[in-house]
Amino acid sequence: MKLCKTIADLKVEISSAKASGKTIGLVPTMGALHEGHASLIGAAASENDITVVSIFVNPTQFGEGEDLDSYPRTLDADCKLAEGMGADIVFAPTAKEMYPSEDMTWVEVTGDITKVLCGRSRPIHFRGVTTVVSKLFNLAEPTRAYFGQKDAQQVQVLKRMVKDLFFNLEMRIMPIVREADGLAKSSRNTYLSPAERQAALILSQSLKKAEEAFNGGEKASSKLVEIVEAHLKTEPMSDIDYVELLQLPDLTVAETEIKKPHLLAMAVRIGSTRLIDNIILG
Ligand code: PAJ
Repeated sequence: MKLCKTIADLKVEISSAKASGKTIGLVPTMGALHEGHASLIGAAASENDITVVSIFVNPTQFGEGEDLDSYPRTLDADCKLAEGMGADIVFAPTAKEMYPSEDMTWVEVTGDITKVLCGRSRPIHFRGVTTVVSKLFNLAEPTRAYFGQKDAQQVQVLKRMVKDLFFNLEMRIMPIVREADGLAKSSRNTYLSPAERQAALILSQSLKKAEEAFNGGEKASSKLVEIVEAHLKTEPMSDIDYVELLQLPDLTVAETEIKKPHLLAMAVRIGSTRLIDNIILG
């Protein structure tokens, strides 16, 4: 496996892969890789000739007071995991390399799709994500790009960007990988104390409650949201940022009675750690 720290190094690899007609799978990440990322890398390796994993803690998607500085950085372990899952190239550039000038070109998806859910409390987040992912698409020239359903809003925003900007690639979306007890794997789980780790189970458990109610015949959107909120509030360490049920794919206001696919998504603080989780109903 090759570690490319500069765009110039990556370009050499991509040009030679393209020249020999190879397909390229790209897995964009911010590192601190875990089994969730591993599932994306494994899928990319099985579906493409060359697998590129990017590891870049993207400063433009972090707001003021967020965890940019404390975000875990574990490049050596990440390279081992990526290689073990079949990656051919790890691209780990510096911020200067990705953002050479302070005068920025932004790629921004406008409208409610970036303003609801995480967009409400993180107003610049998705502009940072779409900008960096556009750069990565242009650099790695992927045939297929791999993203996790864990970040459900990110998936819908990026799909919209790909459609609107005519990016010539296939978006591959992989299911949420969870711990045995249900907690969605996340690089941010490392921030949790043992007591917080236990309390964090409330996220997946409350989604399960809503799913059970839905499967048992409860189709009223307001009732389903109520069920989730009520269960989250039983955990004293939880502090709800949002619980929302929205129509897919555009994340518009839910139907009163759920008849087609809807996203039930939440962001909840456990102590000072903000965690997200979601399921699709319908
Ligand atoms: P990061 O949080 O490192 O996640 C990289 C990819 O791994 C994302 O597509 C995310 O949805 C996926 N992922 C994370 N946890 C997962 C889990 N438990 N199961 C399945 N997939 C999971 O998302 C980002 O980085 C950044 O916003 C990025 C797209 C790289 C742009 O900077």
